[in-house]
Amino acid sequence: MKTILCIGAGYVGGPTMAMIARKCPDYRVIVVDIDAARIKAWQSDRLPIYEPGLQELVQLSLNKNLFFSTDVAQGIREADIIFVSVNTPTKTFGQGAGRAADLQYWEKTAREIKANSTSDKIVVEKSTLPVRTAEAMERILHSGNKTVHFEVLSNPEFLAEGTAVKDLENPDRVLIGGHATETGRRAQSALADVYANWVPRARILTTSVWSSELSKLAANAFLAQRISSINSLSALCERTEADVTEVARAIGMDARIGSRFLNASVGFGGSCFKKDILNLVYLCQHYGLSEVADYWEQVVTMNEYQEDRFVRKMISAMFNTVAGKRIAVFGFAFKADTGDTRESPAIRVSRFLADERAAVVVTDPEALGNARKDLVDLGEKISFEPDPYKAASGSHALAVMTDWAEYKTLDYRKIYENMEKPAFIFDGRNCLNHQELYEIGFNVYPIGKVPLSHL
Ligand code: NAD
Ligand code: UGA
Repeated sequence: MKTILCIGAGYVGGPTMAMIARKCPDYRVIVVDIDAARIKAWQSDRLPIYEPGLQELVQLSLNKNLFFSTDVAQGIREADIIFVSVNTPTKTFGQGAGRAADLQYWEKTAREIKANSTSDKIVVEKSTLPVRTAEAMERILHSGNKTVHFEVLSNPEFLAEGTAVKDLENPDRVLIGGHATETGRRAQSALADVYANWVPRARILTTSVWSSELSKLAANAFLAQRISSINSLSALCERTEADVTEVARAIGMDARIGSRFLNASVGFGGSCFKKDILNLVYLCQHYGLSEVADYWEQVVTMNEYQEDRFVRKMISAMFNTVAGKRIAVFGFAFKADTGDTRESPAIRVSRFLADERAAVVVTDPEALGNARKDLVDLGEKISFEPDPYKAASGSHALAVMTDWAEYKTLDYRKIYENMEKPAFIFDGRNCLNHQELYEIGFNVYPIGKVPLSHL
């Protein structure tokens, strides 16, 4: 029986390995992490991340052919294929701070693999990395070591949070970048065989390592660019009385443009879009391509503009002051069906409102734990309330930050009755029934549409 190891038991490592274990009963799959609490949670019935269908998926293989452990060295010794899925956040210090990827966790794993390997290994980059990272990895792995051969592949992950299980079960494509050498091709084909247990061969794409590394950054940059493009037009819609949903529908029906990822919003969040675009920007700057860097940087600038524009609109609609007013932030996760709040627009919006001395109360069905950590420095200025009805009670305004399905079916008549008047709703996701809310008595401010106001 072959052994697959994954270093890093996070949002990507955990779900991906649970799917491989389920679909490949002939492999033993071990997931290791330095975070002992995280490993313990993976072995429990309260997983460290919230993802629909994940608990059931993990349970199917746990302790059969799926194991979680903190023993990184032993995992490495036993493995034939090693996935590296550690975090690669934006650097916060030194050269490239605020842009470049922080590769310290990545490099540490390379050294650990080298130190503990006694047999040949296929090492798979699962984390999102700057182009040509594989080259650095190979240099570290082979330095002073001629007995063990390491073949490095790039196999980026395209799953989205909230739909991770579905995306892993039925991926648009699996990308495997490898070197055009005999050992490179053999490694590519060994990894393709793993995925072929459930993914049609036609969707398993093999490319060079560099194309694969760049494709991951490019895919996220293109997706984020679509959101910034439609969000830029939402600002123009609000000035011209065009409706951004109608515009998105009209352009999205052009098969060349396509309809997905055209929902205007308060802004995109998540751990990767901003980080990966900034990584791309830094790479372009590094290679002297300043115009290309500026082009992509604008996607991030537009996103920050959209978040700030949302709060400025709230303040202006509420008679140019929110000081002392209770404002209920509906949703803190960066999207529905996840408890993840990394780079969530709700963070920037809540902080902006707190700076304006509003009394902000945050509600969310899954993300309040993370929200508390994100805003810990704000102390008394922010409160947290799991029940949306209680959060709304006594508020002057609701600000919808996450498109949770349950927010669509709340009893807004009851909510309205318990709010201060005039009552406002700012729908940062365009996910509520605006006409109905207006008829209840709310002053409704969507994104990229004419507000429905009684004032
Ligand atoms: P994460 O922070 O949730 O998980 C990373 C894990 O790696 C952590 O649990 C950390 O403790 C562990 N780790 C760090 N150094 C280690 C070491 N030396 N040994 C063992 N474990 C170590 O991150 P994530 O969201 O799973 O992202 C991982 C990578 O995948 C990133 O490069 C990210 O860009 C990429 N990615 C993420 C997503 C997503 O939806 N989150 C999707 C596609 C790609
Ligand atoms: C994104 C990509 O979709 C994945 O393919 C990729 O693997 C992943 O990043 C990654 O590399 O981490 P994710 O961030 O989990 O996945 O979620 P998305 O569904 O892409 O949403 C990102 C943000 O954009 C959310 O805040 C979402 O609300 C927002 N969004 C999305 C919009 O504002 N409008 C849209 O039309 C679509």
